[in-house]
Amino acid sequence: MKHRSWTRHARTAGVVAAAIALVAAVLPAFAAAGQTLAQVATARGFHIGTAAGVRNLASSQWRQVADTQFNSVTMGNEGKWDATEPTQGQFDFAAADAIADYAAATGKRLRGHTLVWHSQLPAWVSTDRTAAAQRQVLIDHVTAEASHFAGRAAQWDVVNEPFNEDGTLRSSVWLQRLGESYIADALTAARAADPAAKLFINDYNVEGVNAKSTGLYNLVQRLQAAGVPIDGVGLQAHLIVGQVPSTLRQNIERFTALGLKVEITELDVRIPLPADTAELTQQASDYRAVVGACAAVAGCTGVTTWGVGEVDSWIPAFFPGYGAALLFDEQWRARPAYTAVVEALGGTATVPDPPAVPSLVTVAAYPFETGLAGWGSRGSEVTTQVTTAAQAVSCPPAGPRPGRARPARSWTCSAPGSCTR
Ligand code: XIL
Repeated sequence: MKHRSWTRHARTAGVVAAAIALVAAVLPAFAAAGQTLAQVATARGFHIGTAAGVRNLASSQWRQVADTQFNSVTMGNEGKWDATEPTQGQFDFAAADAIADYAAATGKRLRGHTLVWHSQLPAWVSTDRTAAAQRQVLIDHVTAEASHFAGRAAQWDVVNEPFNEDGTLRSSVWLQRLGESYIADALTAARAADPAAKLFINDYNVEGVNAKSTGLYNLVQRLQAAGVPIDGVGLQAHLIVGQVPSTLRQNIERFTALGLKVEITELDVRIPLPADTAELTQQASDYRAVVGACAAVAGCTGVTTWGVGEVDSWIPAFFPGYGAALLFDEQWRARPAYTAVVEALGGTATVPDPPAVPSLVTVAAYPFETGLAGWGSRGSEVTTQVTTAAQAVSCPPAGPRPGRARPARSWTCSAPGSCTR
């Protein structure tokens, strides 16, 4: 009896031990499989970010995805000059603060964007004044904004898009009035205002080794030689499907070899609409290539996508006929690129459940900002993207290109493609 009982116990113990061993073997796999993109990135000390705007923060769908899938956030438009100093000397950081607060509340790193740019500049910045006065305008702005976010912004895009495609400096109001020294002045003022923030120069079409990225490479070497504070370069990476530059990693490495950080700061991979399965598969491989190239280089510390899903992508408005450029679709479902990015960071992807989407929504049409030289000419200025349970619809206003000062208007969409205002 005793013996049989012992045997039974032994058998039971054996079964339990085997079960524990099985669970132990399987559990880590489940745990790994259950990780979000942010968790996979954080586990390897990498940053995966999204741009965020105040209107995104008000969207529960956007929040559900962004809160859990990203560990870094960049000010989308809220940190730009037109938002922060619309009138000389009168600073308004309320909207940018909301992004910083969101980052803090959700444990994300904050990237500041952007202190000096030729675009989204209020008209007063370019009114007639002496070079000395213009320089003071620049220094005052950089100082005020960088001080305001000191201790909160881990990185700043101090100077945005300073180059022409041929690698010469863009003929902005800054270059025209101050010459190349405006870049050093901006960096020096930013360092003084926030000694802890990493200071970046950010541009597009500088992902591969080419004339423009070589112009950037030569500039940062000149700055370093002159003792100007410069910590990193941002490669925006607004890419077209199938067109990841083959020299991306080589380009990243030549910058990190200078002791700089590199970040991919505004990644999207646009597809001619409608996007088919082959294109989405190609896009996944493009995302894998970009994130993989960055993750493979020690000094490449993060990748930020320029939005979360179709609804907050700037692509449909600025590149008519293109879209489907981000990791999540019209209904916040992960595209194949999501899995590719998780895998590029060494994780095992579990495709997240999309948040519930209301079947009837009314959204405000918003005018895009003025002064978008270089980007603005590529698309209409007003777009509205509406998500329904069935599919996303886009309802651009009929008629001629709307005026720049057009006020926001509302659209009601009862069915895909059927919108009234
Ligand atoms: C874009 C925003 O996403 C749009 O909402 C805005 O209308 C125009 O600017 N390079 C940059 C970003 O550095 O600031 C731009 O963001 C996209 C191109």
